[in-house]
Amino acid sequence: MENGTILLLGATGTIGRATLEELRRRDYRVVAPVRDPHVVSEDPGVTFWRSGLEDVFGEKKIDGIVSCVASRTGLDAWDVDYSINSQVLKAAVAADVKHFVLLSAICVQKPRLSFQHAKLAFEAELQVAPLTWSIVRPTAYFKSLSGQIDRLRKGKAYLLFGDGALTSCKPISNRDVAEFLVRGLSEPEMQNRILPVGGPGPALTPREQGELLFEALHLPPRFRTVPVGLMRVVGGGLAPLAFVSQTLREKRELARIGTYYATESMLVWDPILRRYDPDATPEYGSDRLADHFKRLASLSESDLRGAHAVF
Ligand SMILES: NC(=O)c1ccc[n+]([C@@H]2O[C@H](COP(=O)([O-])OP(=O)(O)OC[C@H]3O[C@@H](n4cnc5c(N)ncnc54)[C@H](OP(=O)(O)O)[C@@H]3O)[C@@H](O)[C@H]2O)c1
Repeated sequence: MENGTILLLGATGTIGRATLEELRRRDYRVVAPVRDPHVVSEDPGVTFWRSGLEDVFGEKKIDGIVSCVASRTGLDAWDVDYSINSQVLKAAVAADVKHFVLLSAICVQKPRLSFQHAKLAFEAELQVAPLTWSIVRPTAYFKSLSGQIDRLRKGKAYLLFGDGALTSCKPISNRDVAEFLVRGLSEPEMQNRILPVGGPGPALTPREQGELLFEALHLPPRFRTVPVGLMRVVGGGLAPLAFVSQTLREKRELARIGTYYATESMLVWDPILRRYDPDATPEYGSDRLADHFKRLASLSESDLRGAHAVF
């Protein structure tokens, strides 16, 4: 039996790809706008859409939307995370679509960066729109925590900011995020709610993540610490020049993004106690970072390329 037709935004991204699989596993038909002309599917239940974004509503009966679209760098988030979602939401409301599931990020609870404000601006629009909605705010993905595997394989040390225990997170896999997003389409208790979500606990510090990676590679742990101040100095030093050059503005924003992730945990923030609270951070799914690292460790270097990325 078919569940209906879902418009999936960002289907070519990391979480978007996993979400496409999960939607098909649950027998939804999928219409996915894509910009890459080479993306094709032999699955008759999947339509890759290459015409205008709003045109889709004229031609297809869309029952719900899952949006995984996001800036690939964090630098054009107002054009992507905000504008694309906002444009689609307006068309969806006009077409009487019933439900919109948005993939956001847990870091928007303490917004300091431009991309976080762009995400929050759309979250605010979605919450007052005349349809039901779910806003999913995951913690850190496995891929964002796997970037140092190449260094370690080359015999280099694992890089840590400060003592490696400044932050922590409950890592979640692509598959578990996708499953959670798709459940949002049909489960009433997930609707009209903001849903922070991490993977199975406990929360791990960067040092603990490093230890797991060394263990997976059967290498003795070796760490090198980098002062957080260094990244702040880079960002601060570029500040005056950011007014005159777009490139320097972008470099400064990237340094600010790096500093943010080096110093802020990806856990639920308790605004009264003013601290991150691992116990208040919901856990979902069954995939564990240690097993992901073991799987990566068994891949060759060329298979590894593209298996991880930072942002
Ligand atoms: N990394 C983490 O640990 C983490 C943790 C929590 C939340 N998040 C959030 O999770 C979300 C998705 O992450 P992800 O890793 O799946 O993203 P991703 O792999 O970078 O995928 C982004 C998707 O958006 C599309 N896109 C980007 N710019 C576009 C544009 N100008 N026009 C049309 N489509 C565009 C991309 O299409 P193309 O393939 O054509 O580029 C791709 O399908 C983001 O909002 C991120 O903030 C990330």
